[in-house]
Amino acid sequence: MPTLDWIGKKAVLNHHKQVPYRLLHCDASLSAGGPDAGNLLVQGDNLEALKALLPYYAGKVKCIYIDPPYNTGNEKWVYNDAVNSPEMRHWLGKVVGAEAEDLSRHDKWLCMMYPRLALLREFLTEDGVLFVSIDDTELQGLRGMMDELFGVRNFVANAVWQKRTSPDMRLSFSTAHDYVVLYAKNSDTVRFRKIPKSKKQAAQFKNPDNDPRGPWVSSDYTAQGYRPNQMYTIRTPGGKEYRPPPGVCWKNVESVFLELVRDGRIWFGKDGNAMPRRKTFLSESGGNSVWTWWSNDEVGHTQEAKKEVVALLGDENAFDTPKPTRLIRRILEIATDRDSIVLDSFAGSATTGHAVLALNKADGGQRRFVLVEMDESIAASVAAQRLRRVVEGKGDAVPACGGGFRYCKLGEPLFDERGNIHESVRFPELAGHVFFTETGAPIPRTPRRANGADPHPSPLPGRERGYSPLLGVHNGKAVYLLFNGVMGDKRPNGGNVLTGAVLRELPDASPSQGEVTVRVIYGESCRLGAARLKREGIVFRQIPYEIKVT
Ligand SMILES: C[S@@+](CC[C@H](N)C(=O)[O-])C[C@H]1O[C@@H](n2cnc3c(N)ncnc32)[C@H](O)[C@@H]1O
Repeated sequence: MPTLDWIGKKAVLNHHKQVPYRLLHCDASLSAGGPDAGNLLVQGDNLEALKALLPYYAGKVKCIYIDPPYNTGNEKWVYNDAVNSPEMRHWLGKVVGAEAEDLSRHDKWLCMMYPRLALLREFLTEDGVLFVSIDDTELQGLRGMMDELFGVRNFVANAVWQKRTSPDMRLSFSTAHDYVVLYAKNSDTVRFRKIPKSKKQAAQFKNPDNDPRGPWVSSDYTAQGYRPNQMYTIRTPGGKEYRPPPGVCWKNVESVFLELVRDGRIWFGKDGNAMPRRKTFLSESGGNSVWTWWSNDEVGHTQEAKKEVVALLGDENAFDTPKPTRLIRRILEIATDRDSIVLDSFAGSATTGHAVLALNKADGGQRRFVLVEMDESIAASVAAQRLRRVVEGKGDAVPACGGGFRYCKLGEPLFDERGNIHESVRFPELAGHVFFTETGAPIPRTPRRANGADPHPSPLPGRERGYSPLLGVHNGKAVYLLFNGVMGDKRPNGGNVLTGAVLRELPDASPSQGEVTVRVIYGESCRLGAARLKREGIVFRQIPYEIKVT
């Protein structure tokens, strides 16, 4: 397979593995609605934010949509479109080293995107998909990178989105479209839903005979070719007789036709004497198959997107390059189930979060979103404010969608340079990390404490109340963590040491967690001998030294 090369590639190939895990801190003042809605907006560089989120969402995200900087070189916009923001320059200098000085704009973009795409892939479910908005500036680079990271056979489509309604008169050759490039984690398992009929399409269905099954359209009842048993004579209710016209036959054999007539599915015109036509009801017609042409009358255009943001935030200059919610809705409609998790790591004005909340309201779904935005002012003043107004509603113009989200910031790394656990790390945070690095899977939901008390809420949904030392079971491996006195203060070091007494008190996995073949116990030290550990089917791992740090 031909592969893409660029300056700095070697430095970034495995970079995503070296990015440290960091804590996430919740800021209630910028959050809105129900905190347990399970939606997150994280402010921070997505490389670090994705790494922080991975222990909780690896393999769980059905649909990722990203709209990265297109790298057009236009830096006068509200955000830096080229990979030239101070944060990115600093990051490139650190990761790529001296070579970074010589990178072209395109090398820089590829260096920026590669580790982020590598991480994003780890979030996808087996039937998950990744959509990327892009234009011609980096389309080739993106395709080359994605072929390498996802595999050529997992390329699904390159949809063309008609983003404008008319040519830009200032240009001699105006661009009408962007692309939405689509890859699957595994193209064998991915399935797309049909697109619901648009209002315009639905309006073509009428009900001239007041059929109780609702509006319908009619279609020609003939088929190409000659089939002897489909050449019968049809007599209309008004008594007129029809034979198939030359070169065609009727669509079905006579017995099927008569059944359709009995069921009121054949239309003979208002006077009951016209050539027969087959009725198709709107309620039974299903949706349209997805294709690669996404016209602006179906999925919106850039002006519409701008208007949506202005309607919500009341500021013409709030954000320059939003996507229309209808574009994201199309993606959600074809690629998500009602309870899917949706991730957007270049969130901008949070159109993806808006589209998720609105679609949930429309179809009663419980989709959840995770958004990441690096720019602090965009995250706090644009994305969070937009989401707040979508949740709560804004006058008559914007109906409340309900739901809610938590606003988080990246905190300290979980481990310092010497691999010691940072002093502010709480039990649930280390638990999530330990379970993920031990099993490669996110920590399952853990039971609440008996009194439901939660002295140190984590911003991550559904994890904060599980303080059982049994973190979960994965493929026969039960993982335990003795940390921060989880077993109570009576025991050595507050129960962080594995002693015979502590072992006796460790909870067993329940039958619903599956058979346990080995118990992996993380703790500060172990007072049990090797023979006992072997006999009991225990592997002991000492913290912090035996916890994977990156
Ligand atoms: C084209 S805009 C996305 C617009 C968005 N789809 C919308 O509808 O509003 C790209 C966004 O990605 C953000 N961004 C760029 N680099 C980033 C990074 N490394 N981590 C997180 N966000 C980043 C930019 O600040 C910008 O807001």
